[in-house]
Amino acid sequence: MGLINMIEVRGLVKTFPARGGLLSQKAVQAVKGVSFTIPDAGAVAFIGESGCGKTTIGRILTGLETYDSGEIYYNGQNLTSLTPRERQERLRKIQLIQQDPYAALNPARTIYQTLMAPLTWEAKRQQKNRDWMERRAREVLELVGLNPDVVLGKYPHMLSGGQRQRVVIARALTVQPDVLVADEAVSMIDVSLRLGILTLLQALRRDYGIALLFITHDIAAARYIGHDGRVYVIYQGEIVEQAATDELIQSPVHPYTQALLSAIPVLRGLEQPGPDRHIPLGEFALAEGNGCRFAPRCRFAEQRCRDEKPPEVAWQHEEHRHTCHYPTPRRVVPEPLEAKS
Ligand SMILES: Nc1ncnc2c1ncn2[C@@H]1O[C@H](COP(=O)(O)OP(=O)(O)OP(=O)(O)O)[C@@H](O)[C@H]1O
Ligand SMILES: [Mg+2]
Repeated sequence: MGLINMIEVRGLVKTFPARGGLLSQKAVQAVKGVSFTIPDAGAVAFIGESGCGKTTIGRILTGLETYDSGEIYYNGQNLTSLTPRERQERLRKIQLIQQDPYAALNPARTIYQTLMAPLTWEAKRQQKNRDWMERRAREVLELVGLNPDVVLGKYPHMLSGGQRQRVVIARALTVQPDVLVADEAVSMIDVSLRLGILTLLQALRRDYGIALLFITHDIAAARYIGHDGRVYVIYQGEIVEQAATDELIQSPVHPYTQALLSAIPVLRGLEQPGPDRHIPLGEFALAEGNGCRFAPRCRFAEQRCRDEKPPEVAWQHEEHRHTCHYPTPRRVVPEPLEAKS
């Protein structure tokens, strides 16, 4: 049985307008025609460096940001003709988990109050009473591995970073979400606690069929979305390569993906020695003209790369796609770490 695509995004474009004044800024086209799908109960990762547009896409998908053009289908329904308000209502079951759990929680509210806010909304919608809300608050905390008796009466500052992130996830669970968009959800948490949060997200997917959109600049973390996941590599607002997780890690063909992969220190120790083992990224540069955006930083770029924009094409099969004039398999990593355990 094929998976249904719960979310289908086609040609998404987002421009932030120019700003005058003290902090003047030119208009930024943060997202330049991005297309992707999130299968029902699937796992998808977006990876790319800071500023490539990951958060912007995540915010659009959760209704927090508008977009200029493109289409978003959610369970087959095209949301594009809706008003931003209607769209936000429709997208309520797509929940954003932000990078900084402290900023995401109101410091003046106890965890109980934090959970009651969305539960009041849910109770009204489902015609439930106060008892149901109280029970549900305890349930969602237990789901994320917290003891309700211990945390309900506490304020965010009384919790650890990992506990706070669990509360944020619990709050997202109050609406019984279809998708959790985890935007750098573990990057501000102590390293020792990260794996716990990643494992929790995986468990929510496995046990409750909640799809995951995992946003990260760290390709190593992207591996945690699992073997059946799909990775999209984003460079300056465009998808430059996409494939199933293992395939992308084992056989990347775009020099940008290869550079990201070869920069992972944990993996580097396992690599086979060879001339293509480490592929450095050049200085950050905005592309000029009509060529490949990555060309100014690409150590394999030819004249054609600077002149002509590479279209998105398949590599070996339809599911592995890239935008490179000279795709070359360079095996920068022998095998994903989990494959060994
Ligand atoms: N509200 C905004 N107003 C103006 N420009 C913005 C706004 N939000 C994002 N941008 C710009 O859009 C581009 C993409 O930003 P975005 O936050 O989506 O990147 P990101 O991939 O999430 O980066 P990071 O890894 O640092 O979180 C950047 O150039 C950023 O400066
Ligand atoms: Mg971001």
